[in-house]
Amino acid sequence: MPAFTYTAPGKSILFGEHAVVYGFPAIAVPLSTISMKITIYPQPLGKGIIIENLKTLETLYLENLENQNQYSYALTTIKNSLNIDHLPAMKIRIISSIPIASGLGSSAAFSVSISRAVAGFLGYNLTLQRINDIAFNIEKFQHGNPSGLDNTVIAYEKPIYFKRDAAPKILHIKTPINLIIADTGIRALTKDVVSMVKKDYENHPNKTMEILQKIGSISNSAKVKLEAGKHQDIGELMLENHSLLQQLGVSIPQLDKLVNIAVKEGAFGAKLCGGGKGGNIIAVVPPGIKKQVKHSLLKGGAVSCFYSKIEKENANEYNLP
Ligand code: PMV
Repeated sequence: MPAFTYTAPGKSILFGEHAVVYGFPAIAVPLSTISMKITIYPQPLGKGIIIENLKTLETLYLENLENQNQYSYALTTIKNSLNIDHLPAMKIRIISSIPIASGLGSSAAFSVSISRAVAGFLGYNLTLQRINDIAFNIEKFQHGNPSGLDNTVIAYEKPIYFKRDAAPKILHIKTPINLIIADTGIRALTKDVVSMVKKDYENHPNKTMEILQKIGSISNSAKVKLEAGKHQDIGELMLENHSLLQQLGVSIPQLDKLVNIAVKEGAFGAKLCGGGKGGNIIAVVPPGIKKQVKHSLLKGGAVSCFYSKIEKENANEYNLP
């Protein structure tokens, strides 16, 4: 068996995080400027399954891992999904530039790329839908009750409009959209923030549901504006979405500060992205002011900041199941 490599992009949620968990729509885009690459090498002399993570600097032997470990959980899920008895000896090398626990899709990129790499190494040519289903099951380990948004945008590598339990829709973007992503440096686990929102929902169902519903209708308006290339309108909707996420209690002052800086410097709009309580903001910016916005975000407390772009795509290219 030859070595097999698969590289998955990062992702950002443009609209609809948290609301998507409750069945409302959300929009997410792949971020090609950050990625996770997984290569599977054969181990002809046996030695079981070795996992080498060059980001966390771990080298682990599968046989020494407990069952409740992300690697053994992922490999067992893949093995069961492919309906095979055991996996052959192999070395799994992981290289990633996606920051961990910061809302940019590190865990979903892992779930998708390990599914694709292991299946490819074993000679399976799975559809994207099948890969996505396996990745979704792996995501349950990290997130408990994931909506499926993260693994779907990363598996399809296209901007998507997503609703739980419905087929994802690819967005047809006609004019490129420039993005800046800036990191507060504060780490928060999505699982914990999702649980916090769930508690609020149980304690104040009407108030929480009203916010989630409003976020869902912003995603619907944003879909139209994104496809029409109305960047100013997209920016305004992002700010509305951010304010609803504040009301939901998932923003923190550091995120709000970065959003305000981006807007003051001329971004069309900005919002926190992902689970919140830390992590990153995303801003849509006119191309001419990218450098200035980045400079000010870094000066204003962002620990890192990078550009990305939603590329203009050929509408005919997409055919989802
Ligand atoms: O923090 P991230 O990038 O994993 O995004 C989480 C998005 C949520 O809507 C909060 C949870 C989910 O499963 O969709």
